[in-house]
Amino acid sequence: MALCELLGLVVLGFCVLVLAVDPQRAYGASRGPFGQSNVVMAPPRVGICASSVITHGYKCEEHEVKTQDGYILNVNRIPEGLVGGFGAKRQPVLLQHGVLVDGMTWLLNPPDQNLPFILADKGFDVWIANSRGTRFSRRHTSLDPTQPGFWNWSWDELVTYDLPAVFDFVYSKTGQKINYVGHSLGTLTALASFSERRQIDKIKSAALLSPIAFLSHMNTALGVLAAKSFVGEITTLFGLAEFNPTEEPVSVFIRSLCSNPGVDCYDLLTALTGKNCCLNASTINLFLKNEPQSTSTKNMVHLAQTVRDGILAKYNYGRADYNLMHYGEASPPIYNLSNIPNDLPIFISYGGQDALSDVRDVGLLLDHFKFHRGDKLNVQFIKEYAHADFIMGVNAKDIVYNQVLAFFKRQV
Ligand SMILES: *[C@@H]1O[C@H](CO)[C@@H](O)[C@H](O)[C@H]1NC(C)=O
Ligand SMILES: *[C@@H]1O[C@H](CO)[C@@H](O)[C@H](O)[C@H]1NC(C)=O
Ligand SMILES: *[C@@H]1O[C@H](CO)[C@@H](O)[C@H](O)[C@H]1NC(C)=O
Repeated sequence: MALCELLGLVVLGFCVLVLAVDPQRAYGASRGPFGQSNVVMAPPRVGICASSVITHGYKCEEHEVKTQDGYILNVNRIPEGLVGGFGAKRQPVLLQHGVLVDGMTWLLNPPDQNLPFILADKGFDVWIANSRGTRFSRRHTSLDPTQPGFWNWSWDELVTYDLPAVFDFVYSKTGQKINYVGHSLGTLTALASFSERRQIDKIKSAALLSPIAFLSHMNTALGVLAAKSFVGEITTLFGLAEFNPTEEPVSVFIRSLCSNPGVDCYDLLTALTGKNCCLNASTINLFLKNEPQSTSTKNMVHLAQTVRDGILAKYNYGRADYNLMHYGEASPPIYNLSNIPNDLPIFISYGGQDALSDVRDVGLLLDHFKFHRGDKLNVQFIKEYAHADFIMGVNAKDIVYNQVLAFFKRQV
C-alpha cells in the first residue's frame, strides 16, 4: 500500500479538491502548510472526540503525547462502551491508521460497524493514534509545519519516535499491556518495531489488517508508476517538504501521473486499493470529506524505496557516503523480521483482492513467521476483500472484527 494506498488516497484527495471545495478541507488548508505563522499552532478546536465519538453517546478524551523528537501527537481515548463492563479493569487497545489518513478512518463506518465502538462495547479501553503531520498532530515544540525541518522524517521515525511515545503513554495511563491493531502502514511500523524488539515489554498482542512489509508485487499501474516517480524525481521536485495531496505542487504531480498511458484514474479507489467488495457509499463520502491527510515527502520516498528494493530497510539516502554518515554503513540497515519474538501473539488478516497488500507479498511476510509458535499466530485470508474493506467494509464486523476480538480474548 504504501505507495499505493497513498496514491490511491492521494488521487482521491486530488479529485475531491477539484470536484468540490468541502468545508473540512478548506478549514484544513487555512491552517495548513502554507500559512505564514511561526507560532506553534493550536490543534483545530473540533477534534475527533467532539466530531465523531461524543456525538454517538460515547465518552471520549483528547490527549497530547510528546515524542522524543518534539512532535505533539493527538491521541483519542474511548474509555468505555455504551454497554457492558463499566468500571471493570478494561484492557487497552491501540489503533494505528495507515499513511495519508488519520485516526478518523476507524470511525467512518456506522457506529454499530466501526471497530473502536465495537471494541469499547466489548469491554476494551480504546486508544486511537494520529501520526505526525496529520491534521490533529501538526505541532512541535520548536518547529512549525511551514518549515522543512518539520517534514524531515520517514516511517523510520514513526518506528523510532511516534510508536514508542504512544505506547509509553497508554501503558503509563493504564498500567496494562497493550493490544494493538494496525492497518496498512500501521502494520509496517509495528513489524519494524517488533523486529528491533521495541514495545515487546508493553505489548500483549498485535492484529495486523491488510499487512504491508514487502511491496514488490503491488499491482496497480498507478502505484508502480508513482513508486518510480517518487524515487526518481520527487525529492528534487518537492525537496524536504509536506506531501499534501490536496494542494499544489503535489496535486499537479498526481494529475500528471494520471495522464500516463495505462493509468486509469477514473475509478481511483479501485485503481489504487483493489476491488473493494463491500464499501458503503455513505462511508465513502465520509471518507472523502475527512481524508486524505498530509505526510512527509520523505516518507513517500521511503515507501517507494520499499516497493523498488523488495526489502525492508531504513531510509536510503541514495549515496554511500550519506548512508555512512547516518548509519555507519554504506547501505541502510535492514529490519529483520526474523527477529520478532516467536511467542508474540500475532493475528494477520489479508485480502485476495488487495492491490497494495498483494497475496504474494503477504506470502513473503508469512515466510518470516515459519518458526513462530503455532498457538501464537493466527492467519485469516478473505478472498473477496481489498485494502479499504478492512476498515470500511459493511461486513468487516462479522468477518474481521469478531475474529480480532476472539483473538484478543484468547490471549490470557
Ligand atoms: C451505510 O451507511 C449508512 C450511513 O451511515 C447507514 O445508515 C446504512 O445502514 C449503511 N448501510 C449498510 C448496508 O450498512
Ligand atoms: C534532517 O535530518 C538530518 C538527520 O537525520 C539532518 O542531518 C539534516 O540536517 C536535517 N535537515 C533539516 C533541513 O532539518
Ligand atoms: C535475519 O535474522 C536471522 C535470525 O536471527 C538470521 O538467520 C538472518 O541471517 C538475518 N537476515 C539478514 C538478512 O540479516
